[in-house]
Amino acid sequence: MASVAALVPAAGMGLRLGENLPKAFVDLGGRTLLDWALDGLLASGALSHVVVVVPDRLVDRTRDICARVSGDLPIDVVVGGAERADSVRAGLRAAARADVILVHDAARCLTPPETVARVVDAVIAGSPAVVPVLPVVDTMKSVDADGVVTGTVDRASLRSVQTPQGFDADVLRRAHAAADHATDDAGLVERLGVPVTTVAGHPEAFKITTPMDLVLARAVLAARHP
Ligand code: C5P
Repeated sequence: MASVAALVPAAGMGLRLGENLPKAFVDLGGRTLLDWALDGLLASGALSHVVVVVPDRLVDRTRDICARVSGDLPIDVVVGGAERADSVRAGLRAAARADVILVHDAARCLTPPETVARVVDAVIAGSPAVVPVLPVVDTMKSVDADGVVTGTVDRASLRSVQTPQGFDADVLRRAHAAADHATDDAGLVERLGVPVTTVAGHPEAFKITTPMDLVLARAVLAARHP
């Protein structure tokens, strides 16, 4: 059976959220975003190992969180870096034996377990790189430096991309060894010329970035646990 590791980058400062602590440790309904994110990953039943990547000063606190949620699954806690890609690379070093690697932002803490399982299944079925996506609902315009519209992009060919993103482990390692800057891991894999396939994402896998997203997250939890 394939060994599946999930890397959870949770080392970002989350300045856009306006809270006084790193985003993954912000409170949502009495628990941290990281607690909720780990719950969703573990409930998928698709993982063999989890690596959580956090700021240096929060390693002990993270170990306590992991001890509360882990069940039988091994969870390692490692220290992240300045950029998200540095944090993912720190996670990769702790997942040396995995055949399949997921990278899942702690900030997408309400991602349903079914979405996690769907990504894992697609990688195990033979896709080297898999991203969960949603159709784009707004009309998309390109603009110049002055904000003047230069065109309307055909939104039928656009998707917004979520996590977890799933990879054949060797492909993800090669991608991170070869390149540095991309807003997601699949972007690095694309540069290798490796095909990236899509599966259905989920609206509840949205990324908590701004205070408005926290309002939405509380509403989602209230609907789940009336
Ligand atoms: O900042 P952004 O919302 O894009 O961060 C996405 C995810 O990457 C978050 O879960 C954040 O904690 C993580 N991250 C990280 N290390 C960094 C920057 C971001 O683990 N240096």
